[in-house]
Amino acid sequence: MANNSRGLTRTLAWAGVLLTGSLLVGSWLTTAGTSWAASSPTQSTTTRGDAERGRTLFNGRGICFYCHGKDGHPDQRPQLSRETTEVIVRLAPNPPDLRDPRSLKLKNDRERFRAIREGHPGTGMLPDTTLTDDEIADTLAYLATLRASERNRR
Ligand code: HEC
Repeated sequence: MANNSRGLTRTLAWAGVLLTGSLLVGSWLTTAGTSWAASSPTQSTTTRGDAERGRTLFNGRGICFYCHGKDGHPDQRPQLSRETTEVIVRLAPNPPDLRDPRSLKLKNDRERFRAIREGHPGTGMLPDTTLTDDEIADTLAYLATLRASERNRR
């Protein structure tokens, strides 16, 4: 009898583990299912990106304009605190003119994505850990319009 009840307890314990386990797996599958479904449309923005959103990020939260200038105009850098300006001035080489395709080194968006996410060691191009992948895609779409606008002016 004692044995049996211990056996029952163990069975119940296992049932609990299994139940919890299957609930966890179940909810994980559900979450995975929804996020997969939800990420499909986002996936297409990842390749295209929204240039207007990218522009807002570039001139705002992405702080790209600190170094590359507002709308990519190197002569239109914002008024920053003296400390920040000193740090930026010390960073070499100078931030490139992102509107001038001929002066740019990176050849495709994969390289640019990496440069933005991981930074370029030893330069002022610091890694960005705050933008999401989609936000970087938006920024890349915006950078493409900058390069195109410079070409059109020639
Ligand atoms: C603190 C200054 C600074 C900030 C902030 C900054 N950059 Fe840069 N960026 C640089 C410098 C300096 C380089 C040149 C690095 C090199 O030549 O190795 C560079 C290079 C780049 C390049 C590569 C250009 C090429 O040669 O093809 C891209 C693209 C770029 N930046 C985009 C961005 C974007 C987008 C942001 C915002 C998310 C940003 N940068 C923020 C300083 C900065």
